[in-house]
Amino acid sequence: MSELTFSIIKPDAVKAGKIGDIMKMISDAGLKIKATKMIHMTQAQAEGFYAVHKERPFFGELVEFMISGPCVVSVLEGEDAIKRYRDLMGATNPNEAAEGTIRKAFGAGIEANACHGSDAPETAAIEVPYFFSNLEMVN
Ligand code: CMP
Repeated sequence: MSELTFSIIKPDAVKAGKIGDIMKMISDAGLKIKATKMIHMTQAQAEGFYAVHKERPFFGELVEFMISGPCVVSVLEGEDAIKRYRDLMGATNPNEAAEGTIRKAFGAGIEANACHGSDAPETAAIEVPYFFSNLEMVN
């Protein structure tokens, strides 16, 4: 079933000049880019986006990291897009990520791990409209 997923190229990968490489990996994996833009999140935006993690010990550092520079947010579409993008990203911890994945190639650690992707349809349904309106998505 065709579905949408939400992607972030995180500040570490943007700073390292890897936007093009990661977008190419996404395209080569057959995921369609429905919408994309560069943003620099405010603290409130980052806290709201990661609200599900607000009780976790790493929450404060995660928010600081996500507002440390611009990132590229995108909506991706395809058959089974959520799982396919998670497979392309690799394990959250780049040290555990498989060869050929974005995090293996560009992640430095569990926090500076290059990218984010929705983990389930329910999450994608919250994350996509958090940053994009319907008008911003191509058909
Ligand atoms: P992400 O997919 O963006 O979702 C939450 C993020 O928290 C995760 O990727 C990691 O980059 C980050 N994070 C930082 N520390 C930890 C940790 N100890 N365990 C899990 N995630 C962490």
